[in-house]
Amino acid sequence: MDVGELPRFRLDLDVQFRIAEESDLEKLEWYGQYTHFRNLFRLTYEGQLRGERLMLLADTNGFPVGQVFILLNQRINLWQSVLNRSGNPPQQRGYLYALRVMDHLQGQGIGTRLILEAERLMVENGSSWSTISVAKDNPRAMQLYSRLDYDVYMEDEGRWSYVDHTGKTINVHEPCYMMEKRL
Ligand SMILES: CC(C)(COP(=O)(O)OP(=O)(O)OC[C@H]1O[C@@H](n2cnc3c(N)ncnc32)[C@H](O)[C@@H]1OP(=O)(O)O)[C@@H](O)C(=O)NCCC(=O)NCCS
Repeated sequence: MDVGELPRFRLDLDVQFRIAEESDLEKLEWYGQYTHFRNLFRLTYEGQLRGERLMLLADTNGFPVGQVFILLNQRINLWQSVLNRSGNPPQQRGYLYALRVMDHLQGQGIGTRLILEAERLMVENGSSWSTISVAKDNPRAMQLYSRLDYDVYMEDEGRWSYVDHTGKTINVHEPCYMMEKRL
């Protein structure tokens, strides 16, 4: 079948950063790609309502195409080792997680800007350090964090679990480096 020459044109796309609302939770599943994290999104949103977390979104046309979640001034056990590290006085730390940008929009600066904006939000909320974990098999992401002045301070087995949308507990084992940056 001959279809002739098909059109090609440029899109001028506005990206607006904003904090997630309840109506975003379904959209964060990205049409099935992250349906298994449905409960996790809901729990994070509830944490946001309690003032413990923030869900920062990069929005185009009302749809979240990028995201990073922030655990503000965390006090949970996992990080006690960080707080007690020699030479590093206990200070408020924010933890960045679930950073992702839709595949077709990667490599255009959205991820970098999400991290920088998350850092600003952490400072506003009293944190003087930012931490992030990166899987050992994700050198590109690690390179991005290094470029933004994050340094590795410890390794972690990266064992955690979540309950998926069917109610099944999923155990994750993703060995990672923990990286930090003074804000
Ligand atoms: C990592 C990620 C959030 C970066 O967002 P982005 O908008 O693509 O990033 P930017 O355009 O601001 O910066 C580009 C840099 O991000 C990193 N990067 C780009 N694509 C990536 C990918 N698919 N996976 C991991 N890192 C990637 C690289 O360091 C890249 O720099 P380079 O082009 O010089 O190699 C995004 O690529 C992504 O969602 N990747 C898949 C999920 C992921 O790995 N999340 C991080 C978990 S720790």
